[in-house]
Amino acid sequence: MCGIISYAGKRKALPILLEGLYRLEYRGYDSAGVAVVEKNGVVQSVRAVGRVEDLASSLSGVDMHGTVGIAHTRWATHGAPSVANAHPHADCKNSVFVVHNGIIENHNHVRSALLREGHVFSSETDSEVLAHLIERALAGYRKPFFLEDAVSEALRHVEGTFGIAVVSAHDAGKLVVARRGSPLLLGIGDGEFFAASDSAALVRHTRRIVYLDDNELGILSPQGYEVRNFRHKPVAKAIETLVGSLSDAQKGQYEHFMAKEIHEAPDVIRNALRGRVLYHDGTVKIGALDSLAKKSARIERVVIPSCGTSFYAGLAGKYMIEEFAGIPTEVVHASEFRYAPPPLGAHTLVVAISQSGETADTLEAVREAKRKRAPTLAIVNVVGSSIAREAQMGIYNYAGPEIGVASTKAFISQLTVLSLLAVWLGRQHSLSVSTGRSILEELQYLPQKAAVALAAAPRVRELAEIYGAYDNFLYLGRKYNWPTALEGALKLKEISYAHAEGYAAGEMKHGPIALVTDTFPTVVIAPSDSVYEKTISNIQEIKARRGKIIAVATEGNTEIEKLADHILFIPKTIEMLTPILAVIPLQLFAYYVAHKRGCDIDKPRNLAKSVTVE
Ligand code: F6R
Repeated sequence: MCGIISYAGKRKALPILLEGLYRLEYRGYDSAGVAVVEKNGVVQSVRAVGRVEDLASSLSGVDMHGTVGIAHTRWATHGAPSVANAHPHADCKNSVFVVHNGIIENHNHVRSALLREGHVFSSETDSEVLAHLIERALAGYRKPFFLEDAVSEALRHVEGTFGIAVVSAHDAGKLVVARRGSPLLLGIGDGEFFAASDSAALVRHTRRIVYLDDNELGILSPQGYEVRNFRHKPVAKAIETLVGSLSDAQKGQYEHFMAKEIHEAPDVIRNALRGRVLYHDGTVKIGALDSLAKKSARIERVVIPSCGTSFYAGLAGKYMIEEFAGIPTEVVHASEFRYAPPPLGAHTLVVAISQSGETADTLEAVREAKRKRAPTLAIVNVVGSSIAREAQMGIYNYAGPEIGVASTKAFISQLTVLSLLAVWLGRQHSLSVSTGRSILEELQYLPQKAAVALAAAPRVRELAEIYGAYDNFLYLGRKYNWPTALEGALKLKEISYAHAEGYAAGEMKHGPIALVTDTFPTVVIAPSDSVYEKTISNIQEIKARRGKIIAVATEGNTEIEKLADHILFIPKTIEMLTPILAVIPLQLFAYYVAHKRGCDIDKPRNLAKSVTVE
């Protein structure tokens, strides 16, 4: 949610900043801007509404030669997308320029105080107060000489979250960045230094990374970098190495990242399993779980705070953990957990699930759980992300960068990891070796089966041709595939803007059936599992009301052909793993419907990839 890239080195900053913005665009894309400090100390800034390419057009013919600069791509929180609200924001004298991710919660109060002091504001954003606070600090009675001192002083007056990058005509040649609650990392190059909200913007230039922690400030210049806390004390930071390749963040043969990422399902499952299966013992080996075994008392409850797609993965995980480990499990929207946390304690394992590892509500849920002394385990895809570092134990998905804003491969990976967690917890309780083995054996076949499910893409595309113009869809599933129905509906609505509702199939009669007509199709997830017959009854009820049915069913099921208007087959697997295969045709269906409707699939309207504000 909003992307920051900034640079201090010997090369011209502008091309580096623009290239970084393109890589960060998936985090927010309603406006963008840059500011570069020129050799004479003057700061030049250009902003534009729309995509990074709109900014690039606005920059054509503009000469920027400076080697220190900041840039931002925005997802609006305070103030509509407009040039005035785009970052960087400047002070009254166009001397201090700031880009900001996060929310300054007391901005109204600070703005009023600054207005009284004569400052003139030019945007409706919360962020602009930062530029004026730094201006005030630079001009203050104690006259701090260095930009970093002025930034520290300014930050004393704000409440909320921020990741910021600042340049100024005063102390030109220096880039100051700071973090509280919004991700920020430094890239260490050879005589050049970067700071970004996301490693995607850095990977082309350097793999040497320093993660800033909350209340830390980085001072970067072509001569070097230093990290301090807000009390001016130097902080020794480790340099870590980024993993992954540049091609991970490219579309390759695919038209969209989303299509590429859906088709990565087999590899994603393999990567989540690699080195973790102890088939002989019918269990799994994951470092985090070893430390959980050592540190914690018996786990009596599991609570899963998460958001969106990760929440739906958590719902399927609940069924896995309850069925195979017998441990009561509750899945809580992280945004609710934050203000109404369930009872927690040393015997409750809190499992935070997040692709980005930066979702503000999930991060806060982890912090709240730690305050309540509950053991915290994170299932996170982005290595080194805030949630990964905040939780006491972590399991990485190793799914590779997910660039499409709609989460696809992460869901598949999260379900795979949750099945491993269920086996491990089960084996700590009463799950037998043989049941553990049978789950692990089936998991080993899953990549091939996912490839078979993906091979149905042309058939899914045909269905999208038929249904692409419909505006309303109902998605139904039971037990393990209720979360799949919720996820299928979420995918469709977020990228195609068709209205879609996911429901537990048994709940249909309690309301949603009123919606069913011959122009309100229902997608039913009906694999051959323990609730298949019940789901078939629901299909019949819809047919009786002239509703059209698209069924996701298990290969070889000929009975369903008599009932459903269209069928998408998936390979047979054990019940707990059916969501991993069943979601594939649903992801493809959402993709092709959105494609037919001409939607901007990788950057859907109003959304941003990682939600770093609450
Ligand atoms: C949906 C989607 C979102 C995310 C949610 C949580 O396609 O991408 O619903 O799943 O914002 O994000 P993470 O998993 O990064 O915490």
